[in-house]
Amino acid sequence: MNEKLYKELDWRLRVFDSLSFPTLILKPDRKILSANQIFLQRQGVEMEHIVGKRCYELFYGVHTCPNKVCPFPKVLAEKKGTTVMRRHTTRTGKRIFEDRVFSPILDDEGNVAYILESVRDVTRQKNLELALKETEAFLEKVILGSPIAIVAADRYGHILLMNPAAEDLFGYTNSHAMSHVTAEQLYPAGVAVDIMRRLKAGKGKLPSIKTEIINARSEIIPVELTASIIYEDDEEVATVGIYTDLREKLAVESKLRKTRAQLAQSEKMASMGQLAAGVAHEINNPLTGILFYATLKLEGMTTDDTERADVEAVIDDVKRCKEIVQNLLAYSRQSSPMKDIIQLNDIVEQSMVLIRDPKMFRNVIIKRAYSDEMMLLHVDKNQISQVIINLVINAVSAMNGAGTLTLKTYRDKRFGKAYLEVADTGCGIPVENIDKIFDPFYTTKAPGEGTGLGLSTAYGLVKENRGNIRVKHTDDAGTAFLLEFELYHSPVAPETT
Ligand SMILES: Nc1ncnc2c1ncn2[C@@H]1O[C@H](COP(=O)(O)OP(=O)(O)OP(=O)(O)O)[C@@H](O)[C@H]1O
Ligand SMILES: [Mg+2]
Repeated sequence: MNEKLYKELDWRLRVFDSLSFPTLILKPDRKILSANQIFLQRQGVEMEHIVGKRCYELFYGVHTCPNKVCPFPKVLAEKKGTTVMRRHTTRTGKRIFEDRVFSPILDDEGNVAYILESVRDVTRQKNLELALKETEAFLEKVILGSPIAIVAADRYGHILLMNPAAEDLFGYTNSHAMSHVTAEQLYPAGVAVDIMRRLKAGKGKLPSIKTEIINARSEIIPVELTASIIYEDDEEVATVGIYTDLREKLAVESKLRKTRAQLAQSEKMASMGQLAAGVAHEINNPLTGILFYATLKLEGMTTDDTERADVEAVIDDVKRCKEIVQNLLAYSRQSSPMKDIIQLNDIVEQSMVLIRDPKMFRNVIIKRAYSDEMMLLHVDKNQISQVIINLVINAVSAMNGAGTLTLKTYRDKRFGKAYLEVADTGCGIPVENIDKIFDPFYTTKAPGEGTGLGLSTAYGLVKENRGNIRVKHTDDAGTAFLLEFELYHSPVAPETT
């Protein structure tokens, strides 16, 4: 070899030695030809101890290669470089990840003359990668396990993720939402656009707002929403929405409002009741006197007395006043109930017989829709009859004497309740009057036609009998009042159906 060649070889060896990765030169029979300085340093071996040994003797201290997936034969056969990852634990228990790169060096005929095997320690990167994967898995668990509905969409509105709570709320599966639903479809018209506008105005953050969403069944659901835009290098990549279903909260609030209104109504009724009782008590005695003396006077008159009609008018009006007083006393619960056990259908029928003026029904069709199930009530039947009569008379007068009156009874055994619905096809009650109809003396009838005590008396009597009364529905096609009573359960024999 001439000097030039030596120089070149020397130069190549220096390049090999200066490689920053530990590197071996192997012959096709796997015998070690050489190793660079860093390899010797890392392994803590001398060159003369390793040259001529096979690689697996050095790495594993055995005489046949134990590595079933060693790429050496493949590199030899395919004459192409390849990389494998090797994981091992040092004697001190440290976990090491290595990238082993095998590069064939071909001779002039194109056969593999040597294979360079260099080892790169990628433990740090690998540990970072594992930590990242663990964090990702943890975050995924947090998102998937969260009871709060979370939806992520890309900047074009395609759904990227719907966690199980959001699947429940929206009624889509995650996979269906990802391929068939856009963020815009999750809201009533215009809402998504408005949310995006507010998000942008808030620099990517939307503090909690109350809004509505539309689920897969096209139901509108009230929700509380917070949202944010996710940026990567200042570029908008996704939007995340977090939803809280408000249905239960709103239902509780509305129940609370109703209970408050009922309480206010009861208080109002109680104070009106006291007043009514006082007035009724004071008026009852003089009325009895007037009736007594007017009757006496009438009895003393001849049949052709010209003043007879006047006295008869006085007696009629006084009787009417006494009736009003009786109603007032009933309303203020001054008369104590006499409770019996009676079938609801029977009370309804008996009440219909008691209505004094059958003429008023001449043009009214009466439909009876009685349940034939056993509906025993423990009530004062006279009081409940009075309630039913008041409701029926109101219904007939709302229809101006012509229309359909429906009397329907049914029960709900689960709640232990029996119901009577008195429905008419009359004028209906304007919304603004609904709150007033149970007030004493509230009437829309002409003076002399109604006292406005019918419903307030009914209210008092129903409460006296542990029941409820309310307007079930009303509009210009008619009104239905609903009476609710507790079903009577015999304390000895179980109820038969
Ligand atoms: N079925 C109904 N359809 C439409 N409005 C009704 C009906 N029932 C009651 N109302 C309204 O409620 C008001 C109060 O009823 P309530 O029975 O207390 O008094 P009234 O019928 O006016 O008089 P009274 O019953 O003392 O003769 C009525 O004047 C009417 O405006
Ligand atoms: Mg009435």
